[in-house]
Amino acid sequence: MAALHTLFYLALFSSSISAQSPPATSPTTIQLPRSNTSQTSVSVKDFGASGDGKSYDTRCIQAAIAACAMAGGGRVRFPAGSYLTGTIFLRSGVVLEVEKGARILGGAKERDYPAEARRWYVVLAENATDVGITGGGEINGQGWKFVKRMNPRKNVMVSWNKTGKCYGDECRPRLIGFLDSRNVRVWNVNLIEPAYWCVHIVRCNGTSIQDVLIHGDFNTPNNDGIDIEDSNNTLITRCKIDTGDDAICPKTSTGPLYNLTATDCWIRTKSCAIKLGSATWFDFKDLFFNNITIVDSHRGLGFQIRDGGNVSGVTFSNIKISTRYYDPLWWGRAEPIYVTTCPRDLNSKVGFISNLVFNNISAESENGIFLSGSQGGILSNLKFINVNVTYRRWTDFPGGLADYRPGCNGLVHHNTAGIIMEHISGLELENVNMKWFRNKLKGWNNPLDFRPNTVNNISFIDFHSSV
Ligand SMILES: *[C@@H]1O[C@H](CO)[C@@H](O)[C@H](O)[C@H]1NC(C)=O
Ligand SMILES: *[C@@H]1O[C@H](CO)[C@@H](O)[C@H](O)[C@H]1NC(C)=O
Ligand SMILES: *[C@@H]1O[C@H](CO)[C@@H](O)[C@H](O)[C@H]1NC(C)=O
Ligand SMILES: *[C@@H]1O[C@H](CO)[C@@H](O)[C@H](O)[C@H]1NC(C)=O
Ligand SMILES: *[C@@H]1O[C@H](CO)[C@@H](O)[C@H](O)[C@H]1NC(C)=O
Ligand SMILES: *[C@@H]1O[C@H](CO)[C@@H](O)[C@H](O)[C@H]1NC(C)=O
Ligand SMILES: *[C@@H]1O[C@H](CO)[C@@H](O)[C@H](O)[C@H]1NC(C)=O
Ligand SMILES: *[C@@H]1O[C@H](CO)[C@@H](O)[C@H](O)[C@H]1NC(C)=O
Ligand SMILES: *[C@@H]1O[C@H](CO)[C@@H](O)[C@H](O)[C@H]1NC(C)=O
Ligand SMILES: *[C@@H]1O[C@H](CO)[C@@H](O)[C@H](O)[C@H]1NC(C)=O
Ligand SMILES: *[C@@H]1O[C@H](CO)[C@@H](O)[C@H](O)[C@H]1NC(C)=O
Repeated sequence: MAALHTLFYLALFSSSISAQSPPATSPTTIQLPRSNTSQTSVSVKDFGASGDGKSYDTRCIQAAIAACAMAGGGRVRFPAGSYLTGTIFLRSGVVLEVEKGARILGGAKERDYPAEARRWYVVLAENATDVGITGGGEINGQGWKFVKRMNPRKNVMVSWNKTGKCYGDECRPRLIGFLDSRNVRVWNVNLIEPAYWCVHIVRCNGTSIQDVLIHGDFNTPNNDGIDIEDSNNTLITRCKIDTGDDAICPKTSTGPLYNLTATDCWIRTKSCAIKLGSATWFDFKDLFFNNITIVDSHRGLGFQIRDGGNVSGVTFSNIKISTRYYDPLWWGRAEPIYVTTCPRDLNSKVGFISNLVFNNISAESENGIFLSGSQGGILSNLKFINVNVTYRRWTDFPGGLADYRPGCNGLVHHNTAGIIMEHISGLELENVNMKWFRNKLKGWNNPLDFRPNTVNNISFIDFHSSV
């Protein structure tokens, strides 16, 4: 290691002689000695990055990553400062270390990003192994620069939809993306103000996201927290997610998703805190959610299965939920638990949902639990064990709607109930306690609402409903 460092500093020294003060935009070239120990550590400053938050440091950052990757991998450090950049392409073996006081600022111009909309990220790893981001600092998407018109109901966003490859308000860059990658680690870093989704994990195997703070604008649509797509063996732990749209959101578009665990997280969202879907073309299997606090969200635990993928083996334990109404422009109707499967449209297949466990759940909520299978796509073998739900109204938004969006039956008028059930076979409720506040309970009818002919094999043990 000593020899490696000597060589490294010699290289630095001679490069600073030849190019005395390189302009921020032209990267310093440094050839690092090869190492296979993944211990190399370089600073983007040594490659000419200005860190002034005004001039683009894209090329200097990329030069530092290239040098680090060439040397066999290691850390690329961002010392305190603001680094304005276009897309940063991560390479195998490289971990970005955004130090405390350092901030990577995603560019807000379309030319800062690659030509293809599917590659619009501030930090992007494709087909990479052993990659990550850490350091205690911040990656900031400058989301506010993408707000065309602020609106407390729902902001109107800038759209880069020139090519027709993305539509309407879904045409903005995401913050960080790992595509087709293995052994991905994101830890101890703050991910702030994404313009669109925040973290996107696609077709990856072996990802851990821990001690991450995600803060997105509460009124910005599609400001998702973590979207995990077609990926296996994912761990999310000790994260705090406060954002406008879905917070932890597994999806399947091109392949199945297996073995996802999320624990010890805190979530607030104007949409759904934990949501499977709505892209659900392939199967979901073995998902575990434990010790999660969900605060003031539009929906707590949600299944929005719309495209024919099947879901089985999902366990939620030790979860505290508070759900409330927000503007109906946002999906969600204050349901603490929402399990739905229905075909998105006339051409869609319907997926099955089976083997769900909800254990040790307590909720305070403005609406009831919604369990809705559909013709040909029943819900089977659902267990609710040790579940307390307190029903109370505290906002003035109207209730009385069942929400099947996206697609399906849309928003339909329906009485409010403690649990609405349709198209279910095999439901056990054990030690379930419903508590009702007398005030403002207009529109609430029954603790339980069984819709016609479609509910079979239900058992209640130790069920209570009281005021
Ligand atoms: C590093 O490379 C050396 C020589 O090429 C080799 O002997 C050693 O096993 C390698 N170490 C690792 C950890 O791959
Ligand atoms: C992904 O990387 C592997 C080796 O690391 C390589 O064989 C493969 O061609 C790469 N695939 C793509 C799509 O780049
Ligand atoms: C881009 O999206 C906006 C908002 O949905 C729409 O008004 C506009 O017509 C779209 N432009 C193109 C070229 O698709
Ligand atoms: C995830 O595992 C399933 C089942 O083994 C497999 O079909 C799929 O290709 C895996 N996905 C990835 C991204 O490795
Ligand atoms: C995914 O990773 C696990 C080990 O973490 C490994 O056993 C499995 O073969 C990998 N699957 C694929 C498709 O790479
Ligand atoms: C599930 O994924 C975790 C990583 O989150 C891994 O440690 C574990 O071995 C995986 N389990 C199986 C059965 O593959
Ligand atoms: C549950 O998660 C919180 C963080 O949200 C953590 O502080 C607490 O220690 C965890 N509880 C247990 C029992 O692990
Ligand atoms: C879901 O399960 C049904 C019934 O077993 C099966 O016909 C269908 O192909 C499955 N869907 C997928 C995407 O595998
Ligand atoms: C449910 O909570 C009780 C009491 O806090 C605890 O003993 C039990 O282990 C919990 N069950 C699960 C599945 O976590
Ligand atoms: C449900 O309420 C009962 C009575 O207040 C309490 O003993 C129990 O711990 C609560 N269970 C959960 C999961 O919060
Ligand atoms: C009723 O549902 C339970 C699971 O909740 C299942 O084990 C059982 O086989 C079902 N019985 C019938 C007759 O379908």
